[in-house]
Amino acid sequence: MPRSHVVTTEDTALALGSGDVSVLATPRLIAWLEAATVDACNDLAPDEASVGTRVDIEHLVASPLGARVDAVAELVHRDGRLLRFAVTAHHDVGGGPVLIAQGQVTRVVVRREPFLARVGADLIIREALPEELPAVGDLRVKAYVAGYGMAKDEVAYAAVLRDAPGQAAQSQILVALRHGELVGTVAIVPAGCPLAEVAQPGEVEFRFMAVAPHAWRQGIAQALVEAVIDRSAGQGLVCTVIEGNEPAADLYFSHGFIPVPARDHVPVPDVRLRVFTRPAGWVPGAAP
Ligand SMILES: CC(C)(COP(=O)(O)OP(=O)(O)OC[C@H]1O[C@@H](n2cnc3c(N)ncnc32)[C@H](O)[C@@H]1OP(=O)(O)O)[C@@H](O)C(=O)NCCC(=O)NCCS
Repeated sequence: MPRSHVVTTEDTALALGSGDVSVLATPRLIAWLEAATVDACNDLAPDEASVGTRVDIEHLVASPLGARVDAVAELVHRDGRLLRFAVTAHHDVGGGPVLIAQGQVTRVVVRREPFLARVGADLIIREALPEELPAVGDLRVKAYVAGYGMAKDEVAYAAVLRDAPGQAAQSQILVALRHGELVGTVAIVPAGCPLAEVAQPGEVEFRFMAVAPHAWRQGIAQALVEAVIDRSAGQGLVCTVIEGNEPAADLYFSHGFIPVPARDHVPVPDVRLRVFTRPAGWVPGAAP
């Protein structure tokens, strides 16, 4: 049974960014052909799924808006878990079916749970995209207000926290995403840049560690600290903790950071920032 589709504005190369004309986009056509191969995998066990591993398709004729497109897949080769399909697509724009694409798609049968466990890390930590930075700023403010160290009326500091977009050029802003939801962030700042408050030459400073309040005590800050350590390329690390913020102090202690009172920093009267450093190459269990 073919899968039938009609080309709409959402299917064009213009809409998908794969070209700049309003005809059926090749990636959409490939998706329709792949969907036909999924339909053709009709003898899988309930705990199995198939995943596409190779696509080799010629797109022969452009299809205009409104065209009907039929995609067909036929299993032509099976070798254990590997399935190879011959695929074709025809469109009809008035004169009967015309072949618009042909080729092969290979799929591999996997067991759903182990496959997802292998691929789907619950928590992803990566550099933020520019469009995510306003939400990073909001998350910081929310965490700092709900947490330790920031009163609601600290408007000037809230503006600094919110300005993730303005800081992106001089820091590496990491985000933690759990099932795609932004739940944490931290910024890595090289010594010597204006955002670095206490870093000395050869040290990497990190700032603005924040976890969304609904996700506290679930190991997200620990994962962010580990990501910072991974990315510090063996250099010494330094961060500050406002006096009284014991949760943050505990977090850093447990990752090999030690307070260095002689370096404590007083950015404005009545605000004391404790400096914590972590020597390069500290390993868990070793004395700091
Ligand atoms: C501090 C903060 C980043 C911790 O985030 P988190 O994801 O909840 O922390 P984790 O779950 O990874 O916990 C790591 C460790 O931190 C310490 N910790 C975290 N929250 C704590 C709390 N409420 N009380 C005591 N210790 C706490 C513990 O040592 C914890 O380890 P454990 O759970 O094994 O005991 C978070 O509370 C936050 O965003 N606070 C507001 C902003 C802030 O203070 N940032 C730090 C600026 S230096």
